[in-house]
Amino acid sequence: KAGSFTHKLPGEHVYEGVLFFEYSPPEVLDRVKDFNVRDDDVFIVTYPKAGTTWLQEVLWLIMNDGQLKEANEKQVYFRSPFLEFKDTVLNEVGLELAAAVPSPRVIKTHLQKRLAPKQLNDKNCKVVILFRNPKDVCVSYYHFYRSSSSMGNFKGSWNEFFEMFITGHTGHGSWFDFTESWWHSRHNSNVKLIYYEDMKKNLTKSVEELAKFLGRSLSHQNVDDIVKHCSFENMKTNPMTNHEDVYSINKNISPLLRKGTVGDWKNHFTVAQSEVFDKVLEEKLGHLNIPFTYKF
Ligand code: A3P
Repeated sequence: KAGSFTHKLPGEHVYEGVLFFEYSPPEVLDRVKDFNVRDDDVFIVTYPKAGTTWLQEVLWLIMNDGQLKEANEKQVYFRSPFLEFKDTVLNEVGLELAAAVPSPRVIKTHLQKRLAPKQLNDKNCKVVILFRNPKDVCVSYYHFYRSSSSMGNFKGSWNEFFEMFITGHTGHGSWFDFTESWWHSRHNSNVKLIYYEDMKKNLTKSVEELAKFLGRSLSHQNVDDIVKHCSFENMKTNPMTNHEDVYSINKNISPLLRKGTVGDWKNHFTVAQSEVFDKVLEEKLGHLNIPFTYKF
């Protein structure tokens, strides 16, 4: 039953009512609010597992004229920093990596709107919000929880994780709150909302639309190169994007680029869980009529 979950994992903390893990400590979350945004920044706003890494690679290439050479030499993590992330082992902070990255920057954040940098509202920066149907997000996050030591290599069952997700008890907080917080910004002139399923359906079209939104003119060759480079198969075998040497992810439990499909939730959700999910979604966000795609 939604709302009845009390499980607490090691390393969790609550910041302004939102659940985080140690990799986003309070002092970093405080500093994020006053982060110096540049007018030519591009922010990627996603809930975890929406396809963030995919969009990071696509947008970095669009902003860098399809420069495959640098993309093939440097981890996406360094080219497109994760703003609120602190690597407690390497002592790297996303905020600081971002401050050192040359413009135009492509910056990733999973924060809900009220915790994001205040200057996002005043600067001419661009914001790309990526949504994915929440059932696939939930499944993808479950496997990430299992494989990532940042979440303590979750040992619980799928059923337990399902409860955690629908009660908002997952890292970076409730998917429902995150989604509602950004949905209301979607018509702002500096904001573009896109969907994972649309990228899956026609990546060429997504790349062209994103380039237009970002004011970049790309040749047909550039677009083709980006689409090929960012295919699931290519990113999965590309050490600059597959995160396989990120020490905190155990790819033998589950790789970051796991399936990359639409509708894998059907292999995990029971019929009853799917009905509960639909009900909770309707209660919480039904009034927004967000057009999610659950299958092709
Ligand atoms: P699955 O677990 O469903 O496979 P994030 O980067 O936000 O953590 O999201 C990870 C999800 O995006 C994973 O979903 C991963 O496979 C998917 N993904 C990453 N790159 C992709 C690509 N090039 N094409 C399709 N899906 C991709």
